[in-house]
Amino acid sequence: MCGIVGYVGDKEKKEILIDGLRELEYRGYDSAGIAVINSDTLTHFKAVGKLSNLEEKSSSFTSDGFGVAIGHTRWATHGKPNELNAHPHLGKKSYVVHNGIIENYTALKDELIDGGVEFLSQTDTEVIVHLFERELNSGKLAFEAFKATISKLHGAYATLLITKDEPDRIFFAKNGSPMLIGFGDNEVYFASSDTAVIGKADSVYYLEDGEYGFAKGDEVELYDIDGNRKDFTTIPLSGDKLSAQKDGFRFFMEKEIYEQSSVVVDTMMGRVLDKRIEFEEISEDFFDGIESIKICACGTSYHSALSASYLFERIAKIRCDVEIASEFRYKEPLLSSNTLFITISQSGETADTLEALKMAKRAGLKSLSICNVDNSSIVRESDAALLTRAGVEKGVASTKAFATQTLLLWMLSLYVAQKRGVVDSEFLESEIEALRKSPNSLKVESRLHDKIHRLSKRYLHGHGFFFIGRDIFFPLALEGALKLKEISYLHAEGYPAGEMKHGPIALADSELFTIALMPKTLLYDKIKSNVEELSARDTTILAISPEEFELADDFIKTESSSHVMLEFFEMMVVTQLLALEISVRLGNDVDMPRNLAKSVTVE
Ligand code: F6R
Repeated sequence: MCGIVGYVGDKEKKEILIDGLRELEYRGYDSAGIAVINSDTLTHFKAVGKLSNLEEKSSSFTSDGFGVAIGHTRWATHGKPNELNAHPHLGKKSYVVHNGIIENYTALKDELIDGGVEFLSQTDTEVIVHLFERELNSGKLAFEAFKATISKLHGAYATLLITKDEPDRIFFAKNGSPMLIGFGDNEVYFASSDTAVIGKADSVYYLEDGEYGFAKGDEVELYDIDGNRKDFTTIPLSGDKLSAQKDGFRFFMEKEIYEQSSVVVDTMMGRVLDKRIEFEEISEDFFDGIESIKICACGTSYHSALSASYLFERIAKIRCDVEIASEFRYKEPLLSSNTLFITISQSGETADTLEALKMAKRAGLKSLSICNVDNSSIVRESDAALLTRAGVEKGVASTKAFATQTLLLWMLSLYVAQKRGVVDSEFLESEIEALRKSPNSLKVESRLHDKIHRLSKRYLHGHGFFFIGRDIFFPLALEGALKLKEISYLHAEGYPAGEMKHGPIALADSELFTIALMPKTLLYDKIKSNVEELSARDTTILAISPEEFELADDFIKTESSSHVMLEFFEMMVVTQLLALEISVRLGNDVDMPRNLAKSVTVE
């Protein structure tokens, strides 16, 4: 949710923090702050809103020479987005930054207030710095005080703390929220994601839950959850920042929509062979004994899970249930050990999905994650993982993650079908041929983009949008509606087309916009009748189909295709571009829509 950066070393610290925070800003951008301790001098800056405000505020500050520094970009959980609630939080001589939620903070805060501590913010985080200083005041050395502090915290957190008492150290702890340590040239970095240290650190260590310790100079002392000193091995950090830039597009989201056609080639590489699908990440016997599949995910990833349920049942003839992770967690689900538990997550850090996975593991289920971020918490927690290989996704509204997830799940359903012997080679070969055509279906033609741009001006008002589709186009309708509401702030719903007459059709009038997904390869006549019913009630209809539809007010023609998934991808691109163009016309911030964060690491 929030972004954290830390640095111990000789370089200009402000620049390092701001650079790193810029990479993480998409995770939360309500406010930001930095704190530096340079030979006994404590300095901090905080600003509400985007990072540029913090840069402006700290423009005349420099921090050469050896020192320690921590920074944070915030997505508010406790307390309004204002300067007092921005991190780093300050005690008398120490600063703390934190990502996650301290669940017992109210009790801790009451206890500290009773002891005479004054709180400046409404955040849960501030208790950390005051608890720490209370321990220091009781005579403990800084590391002992830090250990005593974290032992009192319940909940998910990743935290960094610096103090004037030990001005050459950063204390760190990780439990449930992501954090890594990066190593450069006589220097140590901390970050909640590796994008913040790409180009700076040469190697990294991804902290495990329960680990804590401190960095002093370029040395790191690490302790495990039981308090034992732990040796650790770093891994080289690769990647370059160019791929994370906008490449001339107006927005990251736009760039990512255009990229879909090329990233799916990576998703398929080495996996889609001439006559079969192969995943070298999964052992030969991985599916042995598996009789059903349960998928848990949130948001867009949940929509790709729903799409997959049609594919698994239809192609692989295996039962597949899908649940929203935040619901699954508390429903006391009945789980059986012959069920494969699949989690889908772009970030690999979504708290609800991660917890659902942990529950399934405790129940003895085998687990597989479909994820875009290697070494993320969900990947590390799963028995096996298939990476979607979408590259860094920066737009908060997910696009290429959805495309790669859906494509990968289609491949996986074929793989399972192959394993279970429920498909013949002729079918497999024709599916592989279709898979190979998917990059083409995902290409954005300028003619199409121009048309959507022109049409979009007619869809800036009204009392709501219904995206409707049947079968696998129902999850696509859900996803189309989610994209639109996230970045346009207009009300939109995804609905199964056949279900409209069971209630929602009461809303139909000329100010209700229906986006109808009308593929030719699947149930065309059925959806056509559903759309006719809406047209009879004067609803404004935007039809997306390869087949002209005379009752449509607006029409976007897609290619005639022989495969349902190719139609799916083509229509997906149309709905993404429509959301983008409506949002641009409304003057919204496409990449950083209000109230949202890229990675939801709190419950
Ligand atoms: C919507 C969006 C969110 C995420 C959801 C789960 O555009 O991005 O709905 O899909 O928060 O995130 P991941 O996939 O990272 O688990």
